[in-house]
Amino acid sequence: VAVNEMISITEHLVDLFTNAIALAFPELAGTQAIISPVNANAAKFGDYQCNSAMSLAKTLKAAGVNKSPRDIANEIVKNVAQSPLVGKTEVAGAGFINVFLQKDYAVRAIDTLLRKGVNPPACRKQRILVDFSSPNIAKQMHVGHLRSTIIGESICRLLEFLGHDVLRVNHLGDWGTQFGMLIAHLEDRFPNFLNESPPIGDLQAFYKESKKRFDEDEAFKKRAYNCVVLLQGGDANSTKAWNQICDVSRQEFQKIYDRLDVTLEPIGESFYQSRMIEVVKYLASKNLLEEDDGRKIMWADESSSGIPLTIVKSDGGFTYDTSDMAAIRYRLEEQKAEWLIYVVDSGQSTHLQNIYRAAERAGIFNPKIHRADHVNFGVVLGEDGKKFKTRSGETVKLSDLLDEGLKRALDKLLEKERDKVLTPEELKAAQESVAYGCIKYADLSHNRTNEYVFSFDKMLEDRGNTAVYLLYAFTRICSISRNCGEDFSDLAKILDSGTAIDLAHEKEWKLAKTLLKFPDVLVKISKDLLLHTLCEFCYEICTVFSEFYDNCYCIEKNKSGEIVKVNRGRILLCEATAAVLKQCFYILGLKPVSKI
Ligand code: ARG
Repeated sequence: VAVNEMISITEHLVDLFTNAIALAFPELAGTQAIISPVNANAAKFGDYQCNSAMSLAKTLKAAGVNKSPRDIANEIVKNVAQSPLVGKTEVAGAGFINVFLQKDYAVRAIDTLLRKGVNPPACRKQRILVDFSSPNIAKQMHVGHLRSTIIGESICRLLEFLGHDVLRVNHLGDWGTQFGMLIAHLEDRFPNFLNESPPIGDLQAFYKESKKRFDEDEAFKKRAYNCVVLLQGGDANSTKAWNQICDVSRQEFQKIYDRLDVTLEPIGESFYQSRMIEVVKYLASKNLLEEDDGRKIMWADESSSGIPLTIVKSDGGFTYDTSDMAAIRYRLEEQKAEWLIYVVDSGQSTHLQNIYRAAERAGIFNPKIHRADHVNFGVVLGEDGKKFKTRSGETVKLSDLLDEGLKRALDKLLEKERDKVLTPEELKAAQESVAYGCIKYADLSHNRTNEYVFSFDKMLEDRGNTAVYLLYAFTRICSISRNCGEDFSDLAKILDSGTAIDLAHEKEWKLAKTLLKFPDVLVKISKDLLLHTLCEFCYEICTVFSEFYDNCYCIEKNKSGEIVKVNRGRILLCEATAAVLKQCFYILGLKPVSKI
C-alpha cells in the first residue's frame, strides 16, 4: 500500500481480510470480508471491525464443518498479511475482530495531506451523465426542481472530485403540445415578434392567458394544434416564436443557477426531435411496438406486465416516454456515458424504471457495461406538514424563496451584532454564504429519500448539524493559525523545519482518525449517492475537533494574554482539519467566508 495517498481504509481492510479468509478457508475463497468503522467514541473496540466470522460459521456448518465463530476469527487473524495501516488485531466477544489503526501510518497520511492537499482516493474513471434540475419551460421552476438542482450539483462535484468525466445535463421540458398555444398566443399578443424580442415579462401569466384561450376558444385551439405541427416540422417562424418563449424561461432559470453556483448544460427534450423519429423506427424494426387504440405502445417487460410506455400518440405525436427513450439512446450510444444518474423526484420512479428496462429490452442499455440510477427524493413540505406553498396557496417562486433566505440570514447576523465587527462587504459575503449555504445544507443533510420540511428557523439555527454551525466552526478553526503569531502559509516548510505531528494526546489521535475516514465516506457515497453521510461526517469532524481543542492547547498565553508557547504540531492538525472540511464544503456547495 502506498501510504502517500488518500486511501479508503475500509476498502483496504476489505481486501486484506478477504485474502485472509481465502487463506484460512480455501473453500470460502471469494467471500468478501465485512468491515465496518467503529464509532469514534467506542475506541476500545478498535477503529474498524471485521464481522465476517459469524456468517462464515453458518456457511461452514451448512457444508458439514463445525467451527465456532471465535475459532474462525482466530484463524482469519493468523492469516492477515502485514499492512502499514494495521497496528493490532484482536478477537473479541462472539467472534468480532477488532482492528486498531497504526499511528505511524496516520502521521504519514496527515503529513501528505498537509503537503499535497486533500486528494481523492483512486478509482476507475468513468463517463457519467447526471440529468438534474430539468425544469419545464413556461412553467414555474418549483421546490422539487430546487431539490434536484441542489442534490444534482453536489453529486456532480463529488464525482468530479473522484476524477470521473461528468456530463451535467439539464433535460429541460421544452417540447410538447403546450407550445402550440403559447406560440399562437405570442403571434396575437406581439405581432412584431419576428423583428423584435417580445417583452413577455411574466411568462406564468402569459401561460395562464393562453391556456384560458385554449380551453374556451375552439378556433384558437385549432390554431394551437396547427402551430405544434408547424413547429415539429421545423417551420422557421414557429421555431423563432418558440425560441423566444424558451429564452424568457431560460434566463429566469439561469438567474437561479447563478445564485446557487450551479453549472448545467441545457439539452432539452426538443433536442431529441429527430432522434425520437429514429428511435420509433428502431423500436418498430425490433418488433417492440404494439398497436393499442390508435396508439403505439411498448412493454418494458417481455411479460407485458406493468404500465406500457406510450411511444406514439393516436395523433402521431410523441410523449415524455418517447423523449426519454431517445435521450437514453443518445446518452449511451453517442455521448458514450457508462453511468446514467437521474436526479428526479420519487414520483417518477415507475417512469424511469420503465425507461431503462425498455432500453435494455431494445438492446440499447446493457447492464454488463452500463449502470443507471434514479436518485430519487421526497417532496418538500411546509412547516405545517403540508405541501410547500405560499400563504395564499400558490407555488413558491424560487427567486422569492432565495430572497427570503437572504433576508433571514441578514437578520440572524444582525441579531448577533456582526455588523459591528464586519465591514459592509464582509457582512454581505457572510449573508450570502449563510443564506444559500443553509438552504442547500438543509436539503442535503436529510436522507433524500424522505420528505423534507422546509423551515428557515431550523436551518438557521447555530447549534446542531446545520450550515450555520459548520460555517462558524470552520472560520474558528482557520483563525487559529492566523492568530498564533507565526507564519503558517507554507505548511511544507513548517514540516521540513522539524515540526512533528505526533498524535500523542488521545484527542489528537481521535481527530486524526476521523479525518482519515474521508476517503471511506467518499467511496460510500459514490455507491449509494446519499449525501447526508457527508453532512454527518462534517458534523462529526467539528464535534471531534472541539473535543480536541478543549483538551489540547494549541497556543498557550500568560495572564496578560501574551503568547508564550505555540504548539505547531497541533496547529498543523487544525490546518489538516480545515483542509478536509473545505473539500467537503465544496462538494456540498457551501462557501465559507474568512470572517463571519
Ligand atoms: N422535466 C421533468 C419534470 O419537471 C423532469 C425531467 C427529468 N429527466 C428525465 N430525463 N425525465 O418533471
